[in-house]
Amino acid sequence: MKIILTGDRPTGKLHVGHYVGSLKERVRLQNSGEFDEIYIMIADAQALTDNAEHPEKVRNNIIEVALDYLACGIDPEKATIFIQSMVPALTELTTYYMNLVTVSRVQRNPTVKAEIQMRNFEASIPVGFFCYPISQASDITAFRATDVPVGEDQLPMLEQCKEIVHKFNSVYGETLTEPNIILPKNAACLRLPGIDGKAKMSKSLGNCIYLSDSAEDVQKKVMSMFTDPNHLRVQDPGKVEGNPVFTYLDAFCTDEQFAEFLPEYKCLDELKEHYQRGGLGDVKIKKFLNKVLQAELAPIRERRAMWESRIPDVYDILKSGSEVARAKANETLADVRRAMKINYFE
Ligand code: TRP
Repeated sequence: MKIILTGDRPTGKLHVGHYVGSLKERVRLQNSGEFDEIYIMIADAQALTDNAEHPEKVRNNIIEVALDYLACGIDPEKATIFIQSMVPALTELTTYYMNLVTVSRVQRNPTVKAEIQMRNFEASIPVGFFCYPISQASDITAFRATDVPVGEDQLPMLEQCKEIVHKFNSVYGETLTEPNIILPKNAACLRLPGIDGKAKMSKSLGNCIYLSDSAEDVQKKVMSMFTDPNHLRVQDPGKVEGNPVFTYLDAFCTDEQFAEFLPEYKCLDELKEHYQRGGLGDVKIKKFLNKVLQAELAPIRERRAMWESRIPDVYDILKSGSEVARAKANETLADVRRAMKINYFE
């Protein structure tokens, strides 16, 4: 069996970083026909671990993330989209896995470390937040996932999950399935910078291009993008490394798009070469990037608008998806309880 489980925290609309970092790959994998089961989870319980005081934010973003999924081409006929907290078996598994992980091991998790710093949790870390890597191992193992397509920042979570699987299987006998991470192959897609050139796109920095942005907003954002600050005049040589306009082109553009939108160049290497030599202005490249992005985002925007007019159907998809997910996770939970010899009435 080949099974995919992946998901996102519903704390905001999804942006093009999510798209090239993971969503696009999920859709490709979904349509490859290689997978027997696909589960896409809206991780509301995990979102609450650092938004405990803002449940309305989490609630409101469930529908936004669901719309973004459907807009990108996640097909409810092929994939089960569900809400994490509607699957109580996940929390029970987490309780059992907690006994197999040490505090110091979670403290070493680089993603957790970075998040603690980012959220100023150093002085007092909520226990629920601290345990979320363990809960994420429950998400993955409950569905017997063999493959987890996610962004690069999730690598430490997958490592932690594998350790829990090994520990569980060695203590209680072969029960859980070890997952593989699937990362995008294109390096530019691993970490798409913000339009201001900062390393990460984030809502609080206001440097994201959202999948739900209008065509005008996308254009405005692209034309305002940070480039090489030393490339002052067209004739000056420019730098492509660390220049977000080129990173976006690395992530998005194809040779066919050069033929269509910028036929003076055959491919991105030629364009880069001209920029580095001097004589190529930023506006021209940004106009090209805008066309490339619009071509990718237009069908997503159209599909989103279609689903926005069918909100009750979207909730039906989430509801029936959550039922399917609950049944699957309960099966794994029964296996876990049996392995742990706490299946008293069987
Ligand atoms: N941690 C992921 C995020 O920040 C969401 C998530 C929760 C997840 N559980 C998961 C991803 C299991 C993959 C597998 O968006």
